Amino acid sequence: MAGGVGSRFWPKSRNHFPKQFIDILGLGKSLLQLTYERFLKICPNEQIFILTNENYAQLVKEQLPYILEKNILLEPSRNNTAPCIAYASYKISKSNPLANIVVAPSDHLILKEDFFLDKINQALSFSSYNEALLTLGISPSRPDTGYGYIKYQNLSVEHQVSSIEKQVSSIKNNDAEIKKVTDFMEKPSLKKAQSYLDSGDYVWNAGIFIWSANAIIKAFEKYAPEIASLFAKGLDSYNTGTEKEFINSNYPSSPNISIDYAILERADNVYTIPADIGWSDLGTWASLHHVVEKDEDGNACRCQHINLQNTKDCLIQLPANKAAVIKGLSDYIIVDDGKVLLIYPKSDEQEIKQIAGQMVKDF
Ligand code: GDD
Ligand code: MG
Repeated sequence: MAGGVGSRFWPKSRNHFPKQFIDILGLGKSLLQLTYERFLKICPNEQIFILTNENYAQLVKEQLPYILEKNILLEPSRNNTAPCIAYASYKISKSNPLANIVVAPSDHLILKEDFFLDKINQALSFSSYNEALLTLGISPSRPDTGYGYIKYQNLSVEHQVSSIEKQVSSIKNNDAEIKKVTDFMEKPSLKKAQSYLDSGDYVWNAGIFIWSANAIIKAFEKYAPEIASLFAKGLDSYNTGTEKEFINSNYPSSPNISIDYAILERADNVYTIPADIGWSDLGTWASLHHVVEKDEDGNACRCQHINLQNTKDCLIQLPANKAAVIKGLSDYIIVDDGKVLLIYPKSDEQEIKQIAGQMVKDF
């Protein structure tokens, strides 16, 4: 999925050039390119689909020249993740009804790639035998309100679950690491997020999902029937010359909702694999500061000419031809992308999304 806007990374991430297309880590590759390379270790190129807004078609082609053009699925409107996942699922199921699908964001960092591949392979073998919706679970480190929170069934409370749940959890599970989810809460209030964190019973939803085409289509039919019937109507068109026409005239009328609210909060066959994979969703400047290399004062600088005095724990990115002298700042984001200069306290970084929206012109 590469259709989001990534507005909390403003001014680097813009409507016309969002986060997933940017080399945000300074590795010489965009997050989308890193994600693609990771997935080449899971399945062949011909089976990788990119879902994105039609405005980003050219960017995707430039950054991923080996992706088959027919595997770039273009959305004519922004309707969040549930419709794009439904579109891909129905399309894929038409050519391969037994397909297993991994759905992944295109803008995350995964440091422990071997562990990640292990977890995905375990999840794929589980999803091929069970009508289950799986997600990778990440140990939470702060009461972040931007994530989905997942409570799963611990062995110690197994005796408390209802008999129906027992039947569901006894479906074929060769892997004790795969847990039945008992509660999924998308983007809770700060108070709730804090209580989930304090309880020690919740993991974050990484937003990486594994399921069979059959399981996710059944879930759409049950929990989001409007979306299911819209994309089922296209079955005659998918993989034919009329697909684009069908999508252009029908996609915009889909409900605008994320997969988390549409399906995961509602379904009773959600499972998770706690996955220590060195994950960060790189959602904000502070999360980037957290994972990149820093000097002895905690400053992470991407710039060629800088003079820092009494400055600590800052993230600083400047164009190559710019010099800066900074004195007496702690915990600041300082990003100059050539047109816009942002100097903002890290503690208030959630406001950046609104500020980006308020800028009269997309500089
Ligand atoms: N194709 C397409 N179309 N992609 C989209 C769209 C869309 O309309 N909207 C978002 N995306 C892409 C984004 O580019 C990103 O790669 C991914 O889908 C997830 O969307 P986000 O908008 O980044 O979701 P989120 O971060 O608020 O929340 C999700 O991810 C969290 C973990 O990072 C949820 O799944 C949370 O539960 C989860 O904790
Ligand atoms: Mg995200």
